[in-house]
Amino acid sequence: MSIQTDMQKTIEDMVQKGKGILAADESLPTITKRFKPIGVEPTEENRRAWRTLLLTTPRLGDYISGIILFEETLTQKNDDGTLLPEVAESQGIVPGVKVDKGTISLVNSPGDFITQGLDNLGERLKTYKEQGARFAKWREVYPISTHNPRRLGIEANAEALACYAAICQSVGIIPIVEPEVLIDGEHTIERCFEVTETVQHAVYHAMRRYGVILEYTILKPSMVVPGKEHTKASPEEVAENTVKQLRRTVPAAVPSINFLSGGQSPEEATVNLNAMNANYLNQPWELSFSYGRALQETALQAWLGKKENVPAAQAALLKRAKLNAAARYGSYTPEMEKE
Ligand code: 13P
Repeated sequence: MSIQTDMQKTIEDMVQKGKGILAADESLPTITKRFKPIGVEPTEENRRAWRTLLLTTPRLGDYISGIILFEETLTQKNDDGTLLPEVAESQGIVPGVKVDKGTISLVNSPGDFITQGLDNLGERLKTYKEQGARFAKWREVYPISTHNPRRLGIEANAEALACYAAICQSVGIIPIVEPEVLIDGEHTIERCFEVTETVQHAVYHAMRRYGVILEYTILKPSMVVPGKEHTKASPEEVAENTVKQLRRTVPAAVPSINFLSGGQSPEEATVNLNAMNANYLNQPWELSFSYGRALQETALQAWLGKKENVPAAQAALLKRAKLNAAARYGSYTPEMEKE
């Protein structure tokens, strides 16, 4: 298959009505942070057990079309000895991989960050592809403060995202482009709108310069919300601001927008996505999800690292996946939480 045909097929498999993406690509420090409250040691075996649990959830493929894995998961096996990317494919879920190497402070732009990992990315991607990955993910972060993100931060991060996306496409891998405006702080929803608009404008400007084919990309943005320390906004306000901002910056050629949850509770993430799909029909792109915490949190709490809890944890994951799938149609109701 040609690279273009590969990417066309991957996009069709990933972007499906009523389905979204599960982010299970926590790096070692992040998975350690997630396991700590439930008292699970972050050993390789426990990480394998957790990701196996997620991927072997019966009928997960009814609601989930793609899963973002951490590099090590590509070579891990389930209890029967099947490689985990193959387990994903057998569920009708496209396996992908996080390829960035995390953030460091951006020199001469105090308070801003930059993501590492562009060196040898093309070579790494070829290996991941051989291991079964069909898409990739790269995250840049933007803190909001009086002075952040700065001009340099916005431009350097856009450049890195576009360069990553172009490299992915050169080897037939679909890039998920993730510019995350962080929720930390006491800023207003208006300030988040302004920052997100500026950030995404720079990202698409850079993507154009790098020759990225937008039809073969997925955007993974944060929603437009007030800072964590600010009074919460209603789902209707979040939906109105988020859709308005996206319409200003994201070209219609982009097939799907899959939000991150970024510190929203599982219910908030669902209700906010639902409000967008209920109130804003016929947008140029799909409005979907690519949640990490908002899909895994309740399942982790049910699991507690114990084999006997696997069915309960899988039921918890399936429930959140199903509710978010309903939110894709704008047909979620809070009563569904009790079912
Ligand atoms: P959250 O939904 O937990 O923010 O995670 C999504 C993700 O992939 C962050 O990079």
